[in-house]
Amino acid sequence: MDHFDYRDGAMHAEDVPLDLIAEAVGTPVYVYSAATMTRHVRVFREALAGVEGGSEALVAFAVKANPNAAVLSVLARLGCGADVVSGGELQRAQAAGIPADRIVFSGVGKTADEMALALREGIYQFNLESEEEARTLSAVANALGVAAPVAFRVNPDVDAGTHAKISTGKSENKFGIPCDTAPEAYARAAALPGLRIQGVAVHIGSQLTDLAPLDTAFARVGQLIARLREAGHAIATADLGGGLGIPYDPARPAPPTPAAYGAMVAKATKGWNARLIFEPGRLIVGNAGVLLTRVIRVKPGIEAPFVIVDAAMNDLMRPALYDAWHDIRAVVPTGGRFTANVVGPVCETGDTFATGRAMDEVNEGALVAFMTAGAYAATMASTYNSRPLTPEVMVSGDRWAVVRPRLGVEALIAADRVPDWVNDMKGIE
Ligand code: LLP
Repeated sequence: MDHFDYRDGAMHAEDVPLDLIAEAVGTPVYVYSAATMTRHVRVFREALAGVEGGSEALVAFAVKANPNAAVLSVLARLGCGADVVSGGELQRAQAAGIPADRIVFSGVGKTADEMALALREGIYQFNLESEEEARTLSAVANALGVAAPVAFRVNPDVDAGTHAKISTGKSENKFGIPCDTAPEAYARAAALPGLRIQGVAVHIGSQLTDLAPLDTAFARVGQLIARLREAGHAIATADLGGGLGIPYDPARPAPPTPAAYGAMVAKATKGWNARLIFEPGRLIVGNAGVLLTRVIRVKPGIEAPFVIVDAAMNDLMRPALYDAWHDIRAVVPTGGRFTANVVGPVCETGDTFATGRAMDEVNEGALVAFMTAGAYAATMASTYNSRPLTPEVMVSGDRWAVVRPRLGVEALIAADRVPDWVNDMKGIE
């Protein structure tokens, strides 16, 4: 559920008309609803009510989904922790007020410098993805004279049934260590100085629309926890990752609800006696954002007209990268419907948001909203084609603010450096 509704014929973000924001800030612009993210955190927490130890679970927001400081600050106030995958994300989470003892660090390529930073800050847990990484962390922690709290991320070899580019739990993926050989890896890691083994972690993919693969993965984690405890490891935490899908297309069956996910988790984790950690990203912020864009012009096409909007693949990469489907709505619908191709101005055919889409009829100058653009959207934007970096706005009730101004072309030009010797180079006579 989100707080983007039509009132008096115009789409609003909570109590603010979107056309007002577009006029004031210009387009394209991302608009977030604080009430929607707040609601999603509450719904997720409520879904854990029936889970053993659910009220003490750490809900560590996957910062990669939306690292805007205002977004993280709202989530910090709601008691969320953070799942980070870089030193940069760690710093951003802390800057937004998320305490280090609510931060877990995932990712296959943590560098020694990033490890040292996280150790100095005193984060809650490192999710190690290989024994090689365990050895590096051991050396870094040892040099700093501290013990690093660690879990291994296991790869349960299940097919998450999602897009190949966002599946992470198959044995051929780069993530985690195999479940079967994990006991030996834990034994070797336990013998390393500077590591304090405390848990097990798993994350099999994103935008999952079926609970069965998660259930299978969690069952494997449960068995592993028992084996590890038999072997004498003090397993106190179980990080179940993120991944629960959200509705993008209202015409398709909705993914399992957080309540259904919670019921599955309750069953799967019964008797684990471990502090649970969750890393939801998309679920919290996905439906809490829209990308507002204006129609530059409508060009006739052979099959259907091309609606050329002022947002492009550099602003919202998901359709180009994952063939992702985003609902496209007129901010002030006229009542007419048509079938159109919605494209951006970038010089690539991949700069296509929708092909043959039945949608609100729109003309030049109309405002259009790409829905469900709160997760993996602004954060994946680039300045390709020397396009300014999209600004972000947050709404709460009838208040709104620019939470990231547009990074203009002047800033892009100013960031480049031309070495002196270029001036000495010969031109073509
Ligand atoms: N934990 C780990 C270790 C992850 O790698 C991810 C996402 C999450 C948690 C959060 O997953 P979520 O709850 O948001 O599904 N850019 C892609 C999604 C990439 C997801 C990467 N990992 C997209 O736009 O669909």
